[in-house]
Amino acid sequence: MKDEIDLAVHFEKAFGTRPRIFRAPGRVNLIGEHTDYNDGFVMPAAVGFSTYVAIAPRPDRKLVIHSKELPGNFEFDIDHLPETRIGAWCDYVVGVASVLRESGLKLAGANLLVHGKVPIGAGLSSSAALEVSSALALLSLTDTSLPLPEVAQLCRQAENSFVGARVGIMDQFVSCMGKAGHAFFLDCRSLDFRLVPIPAGLQLVVCNTMVKHDLATGAYNTRREECEAGVRAFAQWDPAIRALRDVSVDLLDQHANDLPTTIWKRCSHVVRENQRTLDAARALTEGDLARVGSLMRESHNSLRDLYEVSCRELDVMVEAAEGLPGFCGGRMTGGGFGGCTINLVREENAEDFAKRIAERYRAATGICPQVYLCSAEDGAQLVGEPRSGGM
Ligand code: GLA
Repeated sequence: MKDEIDLAVHFEKAFGTRPRIFRAPGRVNLIGEHTDYNDGFVMPAAVGFSTYVAIAPRPDRKLVIHSKELPGNFEFDIDHLPETRIGAWCDYVVGVASVLRESGLKLAGANLLVHGKVPIGAGLSSSAALEVSSALALLSLTDTSLPLPEVAQLCRQAENSFVGARVGIMDQFVSCMGKAGHAFFLDCRSLDFRLVPIPAGLQLVVCNTMVKHDLATGAYNTRREECEAGVRAFAQWDPAIRALRDVSVDLLDQHANDLPTTIWKRCSHVVRENQRTLDAARALTEGDLARVGSLMRESHNSLRDLYEVSCRELDVMVEAAEGLPGFCGGRMTGGGFGGCTINLVREENAEDFAKRIAERYRAATGICPQVYLCSAEDGAQLVGEPRSGGM
């Protein structure tokens, strides 16, 4: 509540009116990495870090965007929005506005104030949180109500076509639809999902390596192209194949020697990661944490050796968790090349785990990490109305 009240006060000082406030969370991914854009399976959870967007209408056609902590105040004409990114943080907001317009939805002039509490560059989807909270805020001004899965798809489109990052649907979807206490198992082709309860007594411990290597964006797009090359090859052998989702482990093994090594490695990761995600959803449902843990470890090894998106710091952080009391399983989470690991840890051991993993990581790298004790939280929502809660 404190964040909402502070933000409302700040907004009133900046713009002289009282805002409506929306919140959208960041996420961690438990398993199913680099599978979403291959029509595969993912199992993330929304976490307690959120981005807040405060909004109020303006009488003119301007979109004015400020942030509590990020530099720059921006002003646009909503009838002449830029067509591509301008290279500032407001791109995520403007991108969403622009995609809403292109989809034929109405926009009204607005003042917007952003308050971001999702660590930036840590692989916890601060961008999806900003997109989703902005979309809900902008839609609210014209009383447009869209189903949340559609909001997620529009936000992804904004990131793909306006910001220029070819991301999949996972982050925006879970930011919209996440549920407290649950992992979110999503079929990224049909968008069918299932909530998987996180067993009682288990904490999500997120360890931030504090590094983000430059490779991240370029390598992400390269991986996507490599997957597409894999699909083209497999489609020659089986024309029913539209995405790596359609490739079975058997077919993959049959053609181990027919693909360039790099392409085969990428395909091998995706095909087996899909199976691991299905298995992990079942194991988590059954409370078989030993199985979930070993699938997470296999996932990490595969991201390191086959998909080649890990880095030394992530590997050190994953190793550092091994053998600590209460540790059930861990791996890198998100796109890779830095950012965070996700660890499943028994609640009673979580604080001690946080202290000890930080010491081990610092001893090995000289870097002081941040460790967050998280739980699965609800997805995006309206959190403040101008006349409610004394705002
Ligand atoms: C980033 C993207 C997601 C997903 C992950 C990797 O977080 O935004 O769509 O592709 O990387 O699993």
